[in-house]
Amino acid sequence: MPDGRPYYITTPIYYVNDKPHIGHAYTTLACDMLARFMRLDGRRVHFLTGTDEHGQKVEKSAAAAGVAPLEFCDRVSEQFRVLAGALKVSNDDFIRTTEPRHIAACQALWQQLLDRGEIYLGSYAGWYSVRDEAFYTEADLVDGKAPTGAPVEWVEEPSYFFRLSAWGDRLLAFYDQNPGFIGPDSRRNEVISFVKSGLRDLSVSRTSFTWGVPVPNDPAHVMYVWLDALTNYITAVGYPDTQAETYKAFWPANLHVVGKDIVRFHAVYWPAFLMAAEIAPPKRVFAHGWWTNEGQKISKSLGNVIAPGDLVERYGLDPVRYFLLREVPFGNDGDFSHRAMIGRMNSELAGGLGNLAQRSLSIIAKNLDSKVPQPGAFNEEDNELLAQAAAMLDKLRAAFDHQLFHEGLEAIFNVVRAANIYIDRQAPWGLKKTDPERMATVLYVLADVVRQLGILLQPVMPASANRLLDQLALPADARGFGDLDKRLVPGTDLPKPEGVFPRFVEPEGEGA
Ligand code: MSP
Repeated sequence: MPDGRPYYITTPIYYVNDKPHIGHAYTTLACDMLARFMRLDGRRVHFLTGTDEHGQKVEKSAAAAGVAPLEFCDRVSEQFRVLAGALKVSNDDFIRTTEPRHIAACQALWQQLLDRGEIYLGSYAGWYSVRDEAFYTEADLVDGKAPTGAPVEWVEEPSYFFRLSAWGDRLLAFYDQNPGFIGPDSRRNEVISFVKSGLRDLSVSRTSFTWGVPVPNDPAHVMYVWLDALTNYITAVGYPDTQAETYKAFWPANLHVVGKDIVRFHAVYWPAFLMAAEIAPPKRVFAHGWWTNEGQKISKSLGNVIAPGDLVERYGLDPVRYFLLREVPFGNDGDFSHRAMIGRMNSELAGGLGNLAQRSLSIIAKNLDSKVPQPGAFNEEDNELLAQAAAMLDKLRAAFDHQLFHEGLEAIFNVVRAANIYIDRQAPWGLKKTDPERMATVLYVLADVVRQLGILLQPVMPASANRLLDQLALPADARGFGDLDKRLVPGTDLPKPEGVFPRFVEPEGEGA
C-alpha cells in the first residue's frame, strides 16, 4: 500500500552546447521509468532533470552561433524541455543553472566551504579540456590529448582550490561503509582505484572567461562549471534553506543516474564537496553505458547522431522506451540497430504481449458477450500461472532497486510467454461446446493476468499499458501496484478489443 516514503531521482543536467540526442533520451527515460515505478509503488517521488548552462563550452557555442550566452541557453534549454514532453517524461521539476535559485545555492555552498577552510586561493597552471570541462595533468595526457580523446589547452590563471587531497581517506571510508553508493560494481572499482591513487586539490574557479556563477566577494572568478552543475541537485529541493519541507523530505537523493563518462564527478568530487560542507552525500550513483549506432561510435563528425524524435516517429514512443531499456543490461554499452529494434517490436510486443491480449479479449468478446467471465474453481495450471503473475512485483522491486531494468522486463515477459503457452494448452476456443464453464475460467485467468501485466508495464510503456487496461475496463484508480491483488470483477462490460501493439511494417520503398 502507498506509504508515501520520499524517493528523489535525478538525471544529469544536460549541456546546452548541443541538440538533444539518444544519449540524453536514454538517461532521461531510464529515470522516468523508475520514477513512474516508484509512484505506482506508493512512493512520494521527486524526479528532476534540467540543463547545465554555464562554462566555457557553452560560452563558445553561443559565440559561434553569434548570440549572447543567455539567449543561446534559452533556445537550447527549450529543446530539452520539448524532448522531455515528446518522450512523455514525468519530471516534477526542470532546473536551469542560470536561474536565480541556483545561483543563490551555489554561492551559499561556496561560502560554507570557504568558512570551513576547504577552499583557498592559489593559481592554476595545467591542461584543460573545454569539451570535457575537466583539468588534466601532463601525466594524464595520451598523445597530447585528454584520455577521452578531447583536445586540451594550457591554462595559467589565478584560481581557488578545493582541498580534495585531504578527502581521499574519508572518501574510501565512505565507499566502504556504503557499498551500494556506486553501481555497477565495475564503476565502483574504477572509482576506488582512482581515489587510492591519490587525489590532488581541485581548481574550482576560473578567471579567463565570465560565463558562470560569480564567486562571492571575488567577482573576477566564476565557479568551475562542475561545482556549479552538481549543486543543482540540492538547489532543486530548496538548498540553502535546509529547513525547507522538500529539502528535509528529499535530501539525500536516492539516486543520481549518470553516464559512465561522468562517474568521477558524481562519485568523487560531489560527495567530497558535500561532506566538506557537512551535507549528507546522495545514497547512490548509477552509471549506465554508451550507445553505438549500428556498431559505430556516435559522433557529430560521422553524421550518425540518432535524434530521439526520429525514432519515436518511426516506431512509436512506447516501443522505443521498451527497446532502450530491454535491449541492453543497464550499465553496459549497447548497440542501436534497426534490425534489433524491429525484432523486439515484432516478437516481444506484437507477437508476445499483443497477441496474448488480443487472443484472450477477442474470444471473450465473441463468446462471452464482452463481459469479464465468471470463473469456476481454479485448477493447478490456473493457479500456477496466477502465482507466476503474482510473483512479478517482488522480482521487479528487487531488480529495480539495483537498476537491473532488463531483468525486471524479462520477468514480465516470462509471464507473457507462460500465458501464451497456457492459452495454447487450454485452447479455450475449443471449449465453448464441450465445457463452457471451463472456458470462462480459462479466459478469466487470462484476462486477469493481462490486467497484472498492464499494471506493471505502465512505467515502461505508459500509453500502451493504459490502453490495455482500458480494454479491461479497469478504473483509473485501480491501476496502482497496491491494486495488483484485486482481481477483475466478473460481469463487467468490456469495450470492443483492439490491438495495442502493432507489428512494424517497413514503410514502402525504404530499407531498415
Ligand atoms: N552537463 C554534464 C552533466 C552535469 S550533471 C551535474 C554533462 N552533460 S552532457 O549533456 O554532455 O551529457 C549528458 C549525459 O549524456 C551523460 O550522462 C552522458 O553519459 C550521456 N551520453 C552522451 N552520449 C551518449 C551515448 N552515445 N550513449 C549513452 N549516453 C550518452 O555531461
